[in-house]
Amino acid sequence: MYTLSPMPLKTAEAIGARVQELGQAISVEYDFDMVISVLTGSFVFTADLCRAFAQGEKNTQREIRFIKASSYGNSTVSSGELKVSGMESLDLKEKKILLVDDILDTGRTLLALVGMIKSQGAAEVRSCVLLDKPSRRQVHMEADYCGFEIDDLFVVGYGLDYSDKYRLLPDIWTLKNS
Ligand code: XMP
Repeated sequence: MYTLSPMPLKTAEAIGARVQELGQAISVEYDFDMVISVLTGSFVFTADLCRAFAQGEKNTQREIRFIKASSYGNSTVSSGELKVSGMESLDLKEKKILLVDDILDTGRTLLALVGMIKSQGAAEVRSCVLLDKPSRRQVHMEADYCGFEIDDLFVVGYGLDYSDKYRLLPDIWTLKNS
C-alpha cells in the first residue's frame, strides 16, 4: 500500500520558477532544431519548458516529436528492460536535438536514447531532465540541463506516475510504502 508524503517534495511554484530558469538558459546556450520528448512522464515538464523558451523567429521553426520509453511497468523498481517506440520514424539527420526526459535515475534510459539519436545522424544531442537522482547512477551519464537533484526517493506528480496514477498532481510528492 503506497501513500503520498505529508508535504510535497517540490511545490508547483518551485517547479514553475526552475522551469523558467531552464528555458531561459537553454535558449541562450543551445540553438536546437528539435525537441524530442520522452513519454509519458515528461509530458507536463515538456509543455512547460517549451513555453519557457525565448520566443522569436527561431522558436517558430523548431519541431517537437514524442517517443515512448518504459522500463518500470507497474512497479517502483525498474524492470531493466528498456522498450522504446517512435524513434525509428524520426528524421534526425544534421539536426540539433534537445532530448527532454522526466528523471535521470540509473542513467540507462538516457544513455540508450542519446545513442539512438546519434546513430540516426543528429548533428548534436543535449539532454534536459527535470529530476536527477545521482546516488542511483549505474552508468556514466549526466544531463546537460537538470531541474533538481533529489535523493533516492520514488516520486510522483507533475506527470510522474505510479502505475499510471498521480500524474495530474501539480506538485511533486514522495510515494511511501506503508
Ligand atoms: P533510468 O533508471 O533508466 O530510468 O535512468 C529513468 C526512467 O525511470 C523512471 N523513473 C521514475 N518514474 N518516479 C517515476 O514516476 C520515480 O521516482 C522514478 N525514477 C525513475 C522514469 O520514467 C525515468 O524516465
